[in-house]
Amino acid sequence: MRVIETEDYEAMSLEAASLIAAQIREKPDCVLGLATGSTVIGAYERLQEWHRAGQLCFAGVRTVNLDEYLGLAPEHCQSYHSYMRRRLFDGVDIDPANTFLPDGTAADPWEECRRYDRLLREMGGQDLQLLGLGHNGHIGFNEPGEEFVLPTHVVELAESTVRANSRLFSSVDEVPRRAITMGIGGIMGARRVVVAVSGEDKAEAVELAFAGPVTPRVPASILMLHRDVTLVGDRAALARLPKEMRV
Ligand code: GLP
Repeated sequence: MRVIETEDYEAMSLEAASLIAAQIREKPDCVLGLATGSTVIGAYERLQEWHRAGQLCFAGVRTVNLDEYLGLAPEHCQSYHSYMRRRLFDGVDIDPANTFLPDGTAADPWEECRRYDRLLREMGGQDLQLLGLGHNGHIGFNEPGEEFVLPTHVVELAESTVRANSRLFSSVDEVPRRAITMGIGGIMGARRVVVAVSGEDKAEAVELAFAGPVTPRVPASILMLHRDVTLVGDRAALARLPKEMRV
């Protein structure tokens, strides 16, 4: 695993965006696995800026997102569909037909999971998967549990996740309790993984994930078995990693 430590959130966002931009320049028709959450917003802003400056073209790029809340329609303002439009897609020249997220309103959510895995396979997997990290070590919405769940699946969100994500809703009662998430198999199938972390509130999750045993109790810990992972974090988020891991 490669670790890139930066001074602050802005510099972390720049590094994460640079890795994504390098991927697009290397392979203009690449498949990007994308994440939602607060951490990656700054990176998406940089990508939009570079696009506006004529330095980055998304015309050939296809994207596949990690997850979506069950029950939220794509138009819902808190859906991950609308997050992606707002934070990235509307600001770049990507073809909306080349952007994919699970459908949170599918009549049969489990069938939607199978469709999503088929889609991922047909796309040939992600060239680069961007990830954030939950406070409990989740990636996508793969919550801590007894085993690593490999396929895309319907998940009951952990109480701590519902609480953490409630800051984006007007009340905690509005946060959906279930979601569809790409599984650990889909994430580990990516050829490159970039994990973005920021802030001291993530330091413990970073330590558990990258300096402890590989365990489904900390889903992100599986990434230590991936052969091309870059952890990009600001000083505060990486503070609890052993010194020899930090550069
Ligand atoms: C959400 C998303 C994850 C994201 C995580 C961290 O639950 N499903 O994909 O990585 O939260 O979010 P944040 O960056 O806001 O801390």
